[in-house]
Amino acid sequence: MTVHFIGAGPGAPDLLTLRGRDLIAACPVCLYAGSLVPEQILEHCPPGARVINTAPLSLDEILHEIQTAHGQGLDVARLHSGDLSVWSAMGEQLRRLRELDIPYSITPGVPSFAAAAATLGQELTLPGVAQSVVLTRTPGRASAMPSDETLANFARTGATLAIHLSIHNLAQVVESLTPCYGEQCPVAIVWRASWPDERVVRGRLASIEALIDNTMQRTALILVGPVLESEDFDESSLYAVGYDRRFRPQSADSPFATPTDKSET
Ligand SMILES: C[S@@+](CC[C@H](N)C(=O)[O-])C[C@H]1O[C@@H](n2cnc3c(N)ncnc32)[C@H](O)[C@@H]1O
Repeated sequence: MTVHFIGAGPGAPDLLTLRGRDLIAACPVCLYAGSLVPEQILEHCPPGARVINTAPLSLDEILHEIQTAHGQGLDVARLHSGDLSVWSAMGEQLRRLRELDIPYSITPGVPSFAAAAATLGQELTLPGVAQSVVLTRTPGRASAMPSDETLANFARTGATLAIHLSIHNLAQVVESLTPCYGEQCPVAIVWRASWPDERVVRGRLASIEALIDNTMQRTALILVGPVLESEDFDESSLYAVGYDRRFRPQSADSPFATPTDKSET
């Protein structure tokens, strides 16, 4: 018996990996994390599967479901939205499973920041503009932030910020970022990226608060940084004519040339 943790993606049911789909179809028990996992994904469960929404359950109750399945020798598909590596609460479940000696596997999913970038039609790292993306959040009722992980600290890097779980803190986000990024820094808010009712609002730090209304709650990402409107960026060397590299050696003398290339001279 194995608990298969599966990233269910950002919302669109076809943004699920083939491995995730096949595991869901093979598991007689499915535990899924509430409304962020679309119902169409649950349609991959086999007929008669025990399908449980874990949103109202405590960690102990979730573990009870898993232990019951374990006792019956039934594999479990454990679905969380987006990818499992960020804000999935997988870590605490894995720790319990290790203590209980229950085997598990992990199948990644499409994270919401990637879906939001696709919606915006943008790369979040552009040569000469930003080469880092900070996935972060502001403090929440249930989650304090480590003291150095402040927006102001991240802002000092000039990186692209993908701020999760924070749409209700937009005023604080604007206040923290404006001193470093400036009032004219572009901001994009992507609400429910990849869902049928997805919405996008673009603005600047100075204007963004006035541009959104309170119908855009909860499932929204705030993206901030100059990449969001930069057309004035360098092309990457990788595809530049004359750039010597493993897959495109420029001469027989190149350190990347194969022995065949060298013998042809
Ligand atoms: C509990 S976290 C889950 C993050 C998820 N594990 C991931 O990989 O993106 C929930 C937050 O992720 C963001 N989020 C998740 N799905 C989203 C979507 N489809 N569109 C925009 N933001 C989303 C929002 O900031 C939301 O508050």
